[in-house]
Amino acid sequence: MKQLFFSLLLLCGALTLKAEDGHQLWLRPHPAAPVTVVSAAKNSLLLATAKQELQRGWQGAAGANVRLTIKKDKALRNDGFRLSATSVEAATEAGLLYGVFELLRRQQTGQPLAAGVSNPSYELRVLNHWDNLDGSVERGYAGQSIFWRKDSAFAVTARDKALWQAYARADASVGINGAVINNVNSSPQMLSGPYLARTKAIADELRPFGVKVFLSVKFSSPALLGGLKTSDPLDPAVISWWKNKTKEVYALIPDFGGFVVKASSEGQPGPQDYGRTHADGANLLADAVRPFGGLVMWRAFVYSPADKDRAKQAYNEFVPLDGKFRDNVIIQVKNGPIDFQPREPFSPLFGALKKTAVMPEFQITQEYLGQSTDLVFLAPMWEECLGSDTYQAGPGSTVARCTDGSVYPQRHSAMAGVANVGLATNWTGQDFGQANWYAFGRLAWNNTMKSSQIADEWLRLTFAESATTAAGQPAPAAADWNAHFLAPMTQLLLASREAAVNYSMPLGLHHIMSATYDHYGPGPWWAPDKMRADWTPPYYHQAAANGVGFDRTTAGSNAVSQYHEPLAAQFNDPATCPDEYLLWFHHLPWDFKMKSGRTLWDELALHYDLGVHQVRQFQQTWDAARPYVDAERFATVQNKLRAQSGNAVLWKDACLLYFQQFSRLPIPASVEPPM
Ligand code: GCU
Repeated sequence: MKQLFFSLLLLCGALTLKAEDGHQLWLRPHPAAPVTVVSAAKNSLLLATAKQELQRGWQGAAGANVRLTIKKDKALRNDGFRLSATSVEAATEAGLLYGVFELLRRQQTGQPLAAGVSNPSYELRVLNHWDNLDGSVERGYAGQSIFWRKDSAFAVTARDKALWQAYARADASVGINGAVINNVNSSPQMLSGPYLARTKAIADELRPFGVKVFLSVKFSSPALLGGLKTSDPLDPAVISWWKNKTKEVYALIPDFGGFVVKASSEGQPGPQDYGRTHADGANLLADAVRPFGGLVMWRAFVYSPADKDRAKQAYNEFVPLDGKFRDNVIIQVKNGPIDFQPREPFSPLFGALKKTAVMPEFQITQEYLGQSTDLVFLAPMWEECLGSDTYQAGPGSTVARCTDGSVYPQRHSAMAGVANVGLATNWTGQDFGQANWYAFGRLAWNNTMKSSQIADEWLRLTFAESATTAAGQPAPAAADWNAHFLAPMTQLLLASREAAVNYSMPLGLHHIMSATYDHYGPGPWWAPDKMRADWTPPYYHQAAANGVGFDRTTAGSNAVSQYHEPLAAQFNDPATCPDEYLLWFHHLPWDFKMKSGRTLWDELALHYDLGVHQVRQFQQTWDAARPYVDAERFATVQNKLRAQSGNAVLWKDACLLYFQQFSRLPIPASVEPPM
């Protein structure tokens, strides 16, 4: 009888699970064992959440006592925590919550529980939502905004609240503690009363999970919204407009995080419109939020059509301002010097700004990586960037260490990720996009974490028990699951980013996607707008009879000189420049001899071909995973992989045929194997 009852219970669980498989993310419901939470800390929102999570997910001994303790301890920094099998210690309540999530994650993934101290690499781990106030999402591929809706921006429904809570819970479970809830291409209306009221409603739902709300603001808001004659950052009326507006925001949301600004970039207004500098602009806002402990994240994504080499502009504009920013300003720098391409060298601003806080900005939404069709696990890309040695303060000055306070003293530290979240039932469009949200949080918490561990964790949390629901199958033995699902799928995830580079932009090629607004698929020929030489091929690839690639050497645009030695010399010489960045830094003849002994043309063709084969291999791996995945996710991902395989072929054929006009060389035979 008891057995029957449990079977029924499990069946119900499985059914609920099935209906909501995608929506549960990596936080899948588990039948929890009873647990008693012991805590001397005074009751608070965050503590209540921590207790609730323990009760919801405890997988340890039934009836265990788990102790949550707030204590000051030199080993604990920020929201760090210390973990043992039945206790979490932290200096802050948020730390207790993160410790609880880590404890539960370890229980579920079979890792040792007495893990000791874990401190976050960055104080702020923040998602940037490029959500417009009408509910659309710039570069969003997972449906409309979870925060804003057309015509109903001001009616907060119970469904909105439940969604915001579920979102914040997912964030908190991986340590994300900030959300910028509107597009960096911001509307001045963002700071108007009705939108601020909705912002407050959002902040109220995010708060119990320790997620602070930030806003993107338009620099010309004083004129556009406030009716002032100017938005000049040194104008006294402008200064007091921002002070008052900021006060108004904090009156509504006392723990408001601060502002993000995209200024003097892609047509956005900025201090340069008034002959002022980025520092003048950033400091204006920094002074306004300072009394409330707020931050300003000032983006360094700046370029204009006038630049000969767009890759150089951010460095040229920001390095002369080093030391001129307030200590509550952080300069937000995209991982590479152009724009979230499948592969870029790290931005030379990392490590070059020595007296200014700098934060990395990664793109979780796959604008240039197949959007929500292609399966591309981005942790290896971020790991590559964070681990890059800038040499700016001697060997070992990695991007990670130059941004987390290890190399240069900085009052605040942060990492930002452009979110891939929308109203889609599985949140991210492609089910595997969830892995990138997860990976961002994990790397922002620990910027030396390995992609392989992140992949392993995410797969276990997301798929482990879905094997039991797959086509009504009994649960496979753990060893079987590890060998036939976990191991091959981990390999697939880890190879997926390199595959995307191979079939789209290998050997340092970049920005050769279709440059119509969608940025989807190949477009090396694309020439839409004679006004924008910087967007118009052959600008980025420079393909011609004499070769291919962008000359950024000392003889070319000299972007190499923005890197510290020994990198500048290494990148400057095609013999020592890594193959991955070869055509980023060099324009080389088609018959250039590569390290492999092949010609550049053959090597290029081989990479495109390899990319196609890798995706076909992913299809086979996924097909073999069928017994371990619920039917719905299996079929959806199978279809997406089929489409990705087509995309890869399209990229390869389009690019090779386009470049062949210039190389006039045959496509090597090995590139077209009989299928
Ligand atoms: C990319 C993207 C834009 C975005 C911009 C930014 O260029 O295509 O949509 O606004 O980055 O980061 O500001």
